[in-house]
Amino acid sequence: MQEPDIDWQHLPFGYYPTDYNVRCTFRDGKWGEIEVSTSDRIDMHMAATSLHYGQQLFEGLKAFRGKDGKIRIFRLEDNGERLRSSAGGILMEPVPADIFRKMVLMAVKLNERFIPPYGSGASLYIRPLEIGISPSIGVRAASEYLFIIMVTPVGPYFKTGFGCTDICIMRKYDRVAPRGTGRFKVGGNYAASLVAGHHAHELGYSAVLFLDPKEKKYLDECGPANFFAIIDGKYVTPKSDSILPSITNRALMQLAKDLGLEVEERHMTVDDLTRATEAGACGTAAVISPVGKVVDLDNDTTYVISKDGQPGPVCTMLYKKLNAIRNGEEEDIHGWNTIVE
Ligand code: PLP
Ligand code: COI
Repeated sequence: MQEPDIDWQHLPFGYYPTDYNVRCTFRDGKWGEIEVSTSDRIDMHMAATSLHYGQQLFEGLKAFRGKDGKIRIFRLEDNGERLRSSAGGILMEPVPADIFRKMVLMAVKLNERFIPPYGSGASLYIRPLEIGISPSIGVRAASEYLFIIMVTPVGPYFKTGFGCTDICIMRKYDRVAPRGTGRFKVGGNYAASLVAGHHAHELGYSAVLFLDPKEKKYLDECGPANFFAIIDGKYVTPKSDSILPSITNRALMQLAKDLGLEVEERHMTVDDLTRATEAGACGTAAVISPVGKVVDLDNDTTYVISKDGQPGPVCTMLYKKLNAIRNGEEEDIHGWNTIVE
């Protein structure tokens, strides 16, 4: 197996071509054979529903090379389950659990040489993608779907890595509608967040902390990540129908409980930020991105979360613990890892 010429320590969170992707097509009412492809192109009809009416969904999970040399995929089944939930949300064909699992394992094994070495801080990002491919000019669901799994080695999502980052509140943008598609991982949500994200970046913030789209009262999603805060020693995270149920957040809640912390999933108000001693954005890409301060641009108010500009003790502990489980340094007592044989 030839080692790719990659500087693993300085790998960005970007697209790096790998050897293979795997594909499966739903046609005539059933899923076909799994195919292995070396092409990074898709040949599709210009009237495909994914191109016109946004019938598109994706997932994101990671594989790691452990201390013991074994390859571990984190919470594979949960990502498959969320993919099926997203499919239901925009009337797409759900990919059965066995096909999802088989294709993830194939994509990882076929591209084994791109799995970053243990200790590099990098990982193999697995990106499942499903699109409606049959043509339709009328607004309706496709009858044919293409499901692809591609993989790419990635470094940290934020340039700051596990360092504090500042975020902002801006009420002029919504990512999703109150009873819309926020809890599904569909491309439209990301398109709808681009202007807000760009605006925040221009002002020097790494993400927008969106408020709930109905009342503009409760904290919702933090850019492409969930939000949590440590308040009175408790792990508190927003309960909302318009956020994506983050698998990382769920894992962090479990680890917080394991460490003896109380966990609260509830509506969080902007006022809660005055009592937060730590906060973070969490997701597969970054695990935890600790928050330095939250600036409410509409009210000209700054909530300083980290007084010394450093990640706090709870965030640090949770971050280390989750990484240790994914790298096989710590026992996987919750059965989150799939070991690639
Ligand atoms: N929220 C949004 C909008 C996301 O895109 C992601 C990333 O997947 C998350 C939250 C975090 O979810 P997870 O921890 O499952 O990666
Ligand atoms: C995450 O994995 O946390 C993400 O937000 C992925 C992003 C590239 C959509």
